Amino acid sequence: MDGAGENADTHPPSAPAPLWRNFYGRTSGKTLRPIQRRRLGADLGPLVPAGIDRATNPDRRPIDPRAIFATPRPLWLEIGFGGGEHMAHQAARHPEVGILGAEPFINGIAMLLRRIAEAGVANVAIHPGDVRDLFDVLPPASVGRVFLNYPDPWPKRRHHRRRFVTPEHLDPLARVMAAGAELRLATDIPDYMRQALDEVPPAGFALRAGPVAAPPWEGWITTRYEAKALREGRAPAYAAFVRTGAPVRTQAPPRAG
Ligand SMILES: C[S@@+](CC[C@H](N)C(=O)[O-])C[C@H]1O[C@@H](n2cnc3c(N)ncnc32)[C@H](O)[C@@H]1O
Repeated sequence: MDGAGENADTHPPSAPAPLWRNFYGRTSGKTLRPIQRRRLGADLGPLVPAGIDRATNPDRRPIDPRAIFATPRPLWLEIGFGGGEHMAHQAARHPEVGILGAEPFINGIAMLLRRIAEAGVANVAIHPGDVRDLFDVLPPASVGRVFLNYPDPWPKRRHHRRRFVTPEHLDPLARVMAAGAELRLATDIPDYMRQALDEVPPAGFALRAGPVAAPPWEGWITTRYEAKALREGRAPAYAAFVRTGAPVRTQAPPRAG
């Protein structure tokens, strides 16, 4: 299912949002070109939904997802869109949905803005920050599809708990996803897929397809990170999980390796 509905029984209120979050990734890279700075200055603002950041919503009140786009539409989410090629592609392929992307890396946001302008798509919204900010304020069961393309791999064992596929991220993600909504994962790190297969189902998902070496869904477009992985000899793997009707976990399980 790609739509979204409400189910108060399976979605207890989320835990209060922490005042501070650890974010280990990069938020900026190479110096931005003047055109990129201009795009960030002029084009980004209108695409940022109100009420997501703490400055405009310190009490973390739920937002109305129907107000994100000019006309109400099913909401999809891309987590860590990088250079935005996949997000712009999905927006062009699915003009009937609205795609909200979260990405704290400002150079990636500038790249997405260029792609949006080139593709002429009007169904994209951007949170220029941590996806967990969205989990604070999106209502339960409001998201109909989620893309997690090449999440940061954190290859060292002592950093595995920083990966997205941990209860800290998966439990609030499960809360905002509608029953039947799909979570699509691509990764080039076998141990990342191993951890996803271990940790995603207990958060309220069932494995629908994969892991396989080619996307088990229509409409994939390769991403910058995937191209880099292939150049460096790593093999992509893909899996799709479906959000079941299982209640959202309220207490995280004990930490494991
Ligand atoms: C390895 S890159 C992959 C980028 C892109 N999806 C691709 O396939 O080319 C992972 C991306 O996730 C972003 N990211 C990491 N943690 C995030 C978070 N908590 N919220 C949103 N994005 C995040 C990073 O900034 C980075 O751009």
